[in-house]
Amino acid sequence: MICWRILCSLLVVLVQVFGTAARTNTDDFVALEALKDVWKNLPPSWDGDDPCGNDWDGISCSDDRVTSISLGSMNLNGQLSSDIQKLSALVILDLSYNNLNGALPTSIGNLKKLTTLILVGCGLSGRIPDSIGSLPELQLLSLNSNNFVGPIPPSIGNLSKLYLLDLTDNKLSGTIPVSKGSTPGLDMLVSAGHFHLGKNQLSGEIPPQLFSSKLTLIHLLLENNRLTGSIPSSLGLVQTLEVVRLDRNSLSGSVPENLSNLLRVQELFLANNYLTGPLPNLTGMTSLTHLDMSNNSFDATDFPPWFSSLQSLAALIMDDTHIQGQLPVSLFDIPCLQTVSLKNNQLNGTLNIGSDHSDELELIDLRNNSIEAITQRAGYSIEITLVGNPICNEGGTEKYCTIPQQQNYSTPPKSCTPLPCDLDKTSSPTCRCAYPYSGTLVFSAPSFASFGNTSVFGSLQQKLLSKFRSESQPVDSVSLSNPTRKEDGNLELNLQVFPSGQDYFNRTGISGLALILSKQTFTTPDGFGPYSFNANNYTYFTGSRNSGISSAHIGALVGALVGGLVLLLLSLVIGIYAFRQKKRAEIAGKKSDPFASWDPSRSGGRVPHVKGAICFSFDELKKCTDNFSGMNEIGHGGYGKVYRGTLPSGQLVAVKRAQHGSSQGGIEFATEIELLSRVHHKNLVSLLGFCFDQGEQMLVYEYIINGSLKDGLTGRTGIRLDWMRRLRIALGAARGIHYLHELADPPIIHRDIKTSNILLDERLNAKVADFGLSKPMGEQERSHVTTEVKGTAGYFDPEYYMTQQLTQKSDVYSFGVVLLELLTARRPIEKGKYIVNEVKQAMDKTKDMYNLEGILDPIVASNTVPGSVEKVTDLALKCIQEPGFNRPTMGEVLKEIENIMELAGLNPNAESTASSQSFDARKASSHPYTSESLSSHSGASPP
Ligand SMILES: *[C@@H]1O[C@H](CO)[C@@H](O)[C@H](O)[C@H]1NC(C)=O
Ligand SMILES: *[C@@H]1O[C@H](CO)[C@@H](O)[C@H](O)[C@H]1NC(C)=O
Ligand SMILES: *[C@@H]1O[C@H](CO)[C@@H](O)[C@H](O)[C@H]1NC(C)=O
Ligand SMILES: *[C@@H]1O[C@H](CO)[C@@H](O)[C@H](O)[C@H]1NC(C)=O
Ligand SMILES: *[C@@H]1O[C@H](CO)[C@@H](O)[C@H](O)[C@H]1NC(C)=O
Repeated sequence: MICWRILCSLLVVLVQVFGTAARTNTDDFVALEALKDVWKNLPPSWDGDDPCGNDWDGISCSDDRVTSISLGSMNLNGQLSSDIQKLSALVILDLSYNNLNGALPTSIGNLKKLTTLILVGCGLSGRIPDSIGSLPELQLLSLNSNNFVGPIPPSIGNLSKLYLLDLTDNKLSGTIPVSKGSTPGLDMLVSAGHFHLGKNQLSGEIPPQLFSSKLTLIHLLLENNRLTGSIPSSLGLVQTLEVVRLDRNSLSGSVPENLSNLLRVQELFLANNYLTGPLPNLTGMTSLTHLDMSNNSFDATDFPPWFSSLQSLAALIMDDTHIQGQLPVSLFDIPCLQTVSLKNNQLNGTLNIGSDHSDELELIDLRNNSIEAITQRAGYSIEITLVGNPICNEGGTEKYCTIPQQQNYSTPPKSCTPLPCDLDKTSSPTCRCAYPYSGTLVFSAPSFASFGNTSVFGSLQQKLLSKFRSESQPVDSVSLSNPTRKEDGNLELNLQVFPSGQDYFNRTGISGLALILSKQTFTTPDGFGPYSFNANNYTYFTGSRNSGISSAHIGALVGALVGGLVLLLLSLVIGIYAFRQKKRAEIAGKKSDPFASWDPSRSGGRVPHVKGAICFSFDELKKCTDNFSGMNEIGHGGYGKVYRGTLPSGQLVAVKRAQHGSSQGGIEFATEIELLSRVHHKNLVSLLGFCFDQGEQMLVYEYIINGSLKDGLTGRTGIRLDWMRRLRIALGAARGIHYLHELADPPIIHRDIKTSNILLDERLNAKVADFGLSKPMGEQERSHVTTEVKGTAGYFDPEYYMTQQLTQKSDVYSFGVVLLELLTARRPIEKGKYIVNEVKQAMDKTKDMYNLEGILDPIVASNTVPGSVEKVTDLALKCIQEPGFNRPTMGEVLKEIENIMELAGLNPNAESTASSQSFDARKASSHPYTSESLSSHSGASPP
């Protein structure tokens, strides 16, 4: 019996062993089992005895041999043990973006079939073993973003098939190895296209022997090292070069003249060295798009005339280079020029960018020079900085005397409304909540230097998406954000890749994406050049973080729960105490405090600070509105109703009475009192008083007789809003908003600009109303306020939706929609159509009135001044551009409206009299609207 059992188990074992041998090669299986022992966090699919047959994640086989391991971004922990050498058929090894501390084993040199070794961002340390030179088939070697120390092994020179050598961002030291006798060196790598050796501690001279006409290098990246000596003239022999980065070293001497032989070079970086002698003559480098020679010790010189021959130049950066004299106007004629940065030089005279300047021109930074005048008032699309020049010394208030804000960008949603998402999920450009694979793209030589032209990011995003799809990755969409120029000269950009079908990627998906990005075989669109990618941890393989929760996490979780409970109890105790104290204080102060009856539970628990407004009693307001009679009701909304009233003095007022029991409304109510009592401008509705009495919350406004612009446009108020009147209304509203943004202290973002919040007084002056949703900006929030998204559909800034970061540019967006309504008299969303899309689709700039007659309001179409409809359309479209930083400021909008009015023969500064005259004249001839329509449709705050 016992014997039989033993026999049985033996049979099972034998079947298993032979079964294994039959499917996956035994040596390979044993090697993987050994790796399993040292690697933690392996994919759950690494189970069973047949890696090739059982679809282990990241393993590919040819017959029974393991040929590829691709486990990028799997959160692996552990070491790369020498067991790897037993996988003798391995061709591809990619373990990027894992946590494999320790050294690269010498035995790696036994993987004779290896063509691709990618270990980006793995936390590896120690020296790169010499045995790396004994991988005869190796083509791609990417060891970037680790902690490798010691020298670059000369044996790498033996890798005769090597195409990409990327050792960027390590701690490598010593000199760049070149061959000598029987010792190999990098000069032997005649098949190599890429030497990426930047961001290390390499020292010594750049060996002249490194370069020869046999080399076929495309990218030479040696930046951010400690290289000394002069630039060898042999560099001029490598005719294939397209990107040369020698910046941020300690190079000295003069630049060799034959550098200008490199006719294919597009990006040349020589910045931050100790280069001397004359500024190199680069005549003939007609492919050059990006030139950075900043911070060197070149001889003082006038701006050299030959720059005009660099007809492909997009970015010219020569800060601190001792350039003096007058900047020639011809520089700005270079057709693709986008950025000119000549900070800290001795340029003098007058800045003249001429009238034929490049259409692409975005940024001219001439900080700290000696410029005394400027001839060209450029449009707001060109950012000019003259801070630190005599022209700005006497308290110049011009825009060019302020340092421009950093521009930002993020991929806008694709004609959809982003969703608010749960905890770790993010709304994709296609407006789905999912867990994106994310990380940082690092571009070491982008040709552009400013981010104003966001179409470059659009094309990068498109190309990435099609690359992922062409490699059958389950990708829904790609989002890019937050471009940043780093001190090391690189451009960094956040990348998020969203899954399709599911809201998370499985392991196959992630390792596939990691391989595409770590392998650097994705070709970037023009202007981006070489890149690398650093992934963030991805822990959502099963749709939640649960898979990644360790016992330590659970401990933390329990701790947090207990801590939370203790806190809750504490706050209860404190709350009860505070409540009692407050009750006592209230009873004591009841008589003297005018706000005693203010109900804190309905105002978010605080009493507003108000100045200048009158405190009315409930009875006073009851009387002046005829007991809040229905006859006097002139508007209503979520917060309650608005009544017309007459004060004992005879003054008409609008009384906004909050509905009982709306606590949300309470917070908005208190906000509105505080804000309105502080702001005073003729284009803003004034607060006259308020009422806290008898549990009521009421606001008393000046009464605005002609109702809202919304009602005006629909014809309900009976006032004909012709084109001239619309321009004046646009101007008034823009002035009101401009005041909120730039003159109120602290600045205020309105958050709900719409035609129903723009009211028209007796002279048809626009007055902006309803600050219930407004947001004052605190000291720390000069650029944006992060907040829950509020506002009105149709006027929403899509970027605000995406980022929840409210900026003044969100109001600019809404104002752009208002301009479109002025043009078309259509509501922003009408019959399911969005006015923004309608106008963009119909528009054809080559046609008269931009081909918009079909959707223009007939009143506008029939009585306009040539050119002004087009100009208002242009302005509206600028206001509704999706990246907020591309939109003009309200001040710029205001100026443009003034220009348009002048063009139309109107004086923007005399609007009230002119408007009043025409209005009164019409009023006198025949009463254009009944008093009934007035009372039912005008008011301080329509919904
Ligand atoms: C380089 O290759 C040569 C010949 O292929 C060989 O003799 C030499 O040992 C190799 N050197 C290194 C450092 O691997
Ligand atoms: C720069 O080089 C070009 C062509 O090599 C030459 O014609 C020109 O005179 C040089 N300019 C200066 C200022 O040396
Ligand atoms: C500008 O600088 C140049 C060279 O330093 C000098 O010769 C010239 O006189 C200066 N021009 C003005 C207007 O200051
Ligand atoms: C992983 O995802 C891809 C694409 O969504 C799918 O085809 C594949 O079957 C998934 N693999 C597993 C093991 O679920
Ligand atoms: C990623 O996860 C590893 C542990 O697996 C951790 O050590 C590392 O700090 C994480 N990195 C980031 C950026 O969270």
